[in-house]
Amino acid sequence: MSVSTPAKASGQRIFIQEVGPRDGFQIEGRFIPTGEKIALIDELSLCGLAKIEATSFTSPKAIPALADADEVMRGLRRQPGVVYTALVPNLRGAERALAAGADELNLVMSASETHNLLNLRMTREQSRARLLEVVALAKGAGAALNVSLSCSFGCPMEGEVPPAVVLELAGCFLDQGVGGITLCDTTGMAHPGQVAELCRAFRASFPQAELTVHLHNTRGMGLANALAAVEAGADRFDASLGGLGGCPYAPGATGNVCTEDLVHMLQAMGFRVDVDLPRLLAAARTLPGLLGHDVPGQVLHAGQSLDLHPVPATLAEIRVRALGQA
Ligand code: COA
Ligand code: ZN
Repeated sequence: MSVSTPAKASGQRIFIQEVGPRDGFQIEGRFIPTGEKIALIDELSLCGLAKIEATSFTSPKAIPALADADEVMRGLRRQPGVVYTALVPNLRGAERALAAGADELNLVMSASETHNLLNLRMTREQSRARLLEVVALAKGAGAALNVSLSCSFGCPMEGEVPPAVVLELAGCFLDQGVGGITLCDTTGMAHPGQVAELCRAFRASFPQAELTVHLHNTRGMGLANALAAVEAGADRFDASLGGLGGCPYAPGATGNVCTEDLVHMLQAMGFRVDVDLPRLLAAARTLPGLLGHDVPGQVLHAGQSLDLHPVPATLAEIRVRALGQA
């Protein structure tokens, strides 16, 4: 792979999609009260994010943390320009999401048979058939459609997932009129070379489709993977405030790429991200109080790279000594 990113990217637009309220909250042990979920999403709505995945319309037995999906989606103070999406595994979820006013249905299935069975209790072929029913329903209702393919870069139980499997599934849904596909690295198995290769193959096969890359930072490769994806033509990323996140049905899953760390890197490089980073950081700062534990985000702890530290008082003395030795 050749790394050819210019020192200063020339204002290329990158879209940031917040998934903390779904991928993040779904794995929290403590149920976040509905009003607090809504308040955080309302604040995120003012940060310049392109899309917010507000919740998932899944079985409350499977994902009890998001059992209040209907109230959350109905209770949001919507901002123009923000797409409010929700994860949907089946027809029942799609009906609930449409009734609650979701702008987009983010249909989910896994590229790995084992993960699909554990996460959705269906074979991949059963999921595909169910989701194609949802596509037909949503087309009639005028809602936008995206399909998230879990384990696109590997499965924690099966290992490698062939790119051909991922591309075949993507093609099947795009042929039926779905607008976008998300390639998900559900347990942070991908490395930058692999991300670049799959994104390039996707772009070559489906140049018109909206491509989102959904990365987890489980092995510290999240930001490197994001950059590799940008170089390969991706311009949309899911990310999670504070670096929260993880699938409860994928062994070893940990947090997503952290939204504020991703925005910080891309803005520093000169990409156009249109996200209000100080406001996003202020929102991230509320997470430990909301969740009862610290979060992995790094800029939150270290500050932005150009936030200056006070010069130690001993500097003047050190300077005099150094100059005296000249
Ligand atoms: N919303 C609410 N309830 C739902 C539902 C939905 N989308 N889908 C199914 N249910 C309910 C059924 O009504 C039924 O309720 P009952 O027991 O009170 O009669 C129960 O769930 C079982 O329904 P069934 O169709 O047999 O589902 P299942 O048990 O085979 O589970 C899924 C299949 C897909 C619904 C479930 O595995 C799921 O929601 N998974 C989501 C996992 C997830 O979000 N993972 C993290 C993100 S990748
Ligand atoms: Zn995820």
